[in-house]
Amino acid sequence: MITVDPSKCTRCGRCIADCIVQVIHMDKNGVPAIPEQAEQYCMGCQHCLAVCPAAALACDGHTPENCVPAGPLPDESRMMNLIRQRRSVRNYRPENLPPETMTKLLDSLRWIPTGCNDHRLAFTVIDDKAKMEPFRARMRKITRFLIKSGIMRIVYPGYKRFEAALLGGRDFVFRGAPHMIVVASPKDAPCGKTDVSIALTQFDLYAQSLGVATCWCGFAYYAFTLNRGMRKLLRLPKGYRVGAVMLFGPPAVTYPRATDPEPYTIIRP
Ligand SMILES: Cc1cc2nc3c(=O)[nH]c(=O)nc-3n(C[C@H](O)[C@H](O)[C@H](O)COP(=O)(O)O)c2cc1C
Repeated sequence: MITVDPSKCTRCGRCIADCIVQVIHMDKNGVPAIPEQAEQYCMGCQHCLAVCPAAALACDGHTPENCVPAGPLPDESRMMNLIRQRRSVRNYRPENLPPETMTKLLDSLRWIPTGCNDHRLAFTVIDDKAKMEPFRARMRKITRFLIKSGIMRIVYPGYKRFEAALLGGRDFVFRGAPHMIVVASPKDAPCGKTDVSIALTQFDLYAQSLGVATCWCGFAYYAFTLNRGMRKLLRLPKGYRVGAVMLFGPPAVTYPRATDPEPYTIIRP
């Protein structure tokens, strides 16, 4: 639902032009409004609120005063540095991140774009290193079972090289990280599989801009997907499925240069 302050509204029509679902019209007083029967189509994206040059419009209780004014963006070369220098870090200092850094990271999640502006993503966040231990303990048990039962030999014949380390409890999955974020989406989300990847890609880049190390964790994704006991530790709401997993924390390694990766295939039909 939108509310418009008629004393501020200049009737410029920008909110109408920028509305993706085209539900805003001028009412009989010439002020933008959403007719009651069209309310159901509003996605709550707040474009009308963001685009209004007169700060005259509120959307679902969100006012222009709640919104940070447009500020300077990273310039192109800094942005490219972030893209090039983002690394998967597998070497963490053991301490927790400062609480203010954790707060910044979790605040940033609100701006993750999702298909149809579906704001139902759920994040399980391990914000204290001690809370990683139950995940590690269960993973050690599962790893032992996979090796002893011979399943590991079938799914990953190359594991032998690491067998002693794995049986000794080496943390191959969580890499000693003090923190972890797991994103889950409702099974009926229109673009759930894409939403979760965007979510942690955005988290990843913002984290690394704050000097926080990150690592995607496909191993943990499979552990959570395939093992109910592991999944239960995430306390997901009913009807949700695990989408992606990222480890994070203070880095114990620095990289004096970027990598020089092979280009991906570009198809220009
Ligand atoms: C979906 C996905 C899953 C990954 N899973 C793991 C993992 O389980 N463990 C790990 O150490 N690295 C994992 N990685 C990191 C990749 O190995 C890494 O991105 C790649 O080697 C390139 O290195 P870079 O990220 O430093 O550029 C994963 C990356 C992605 C995108």
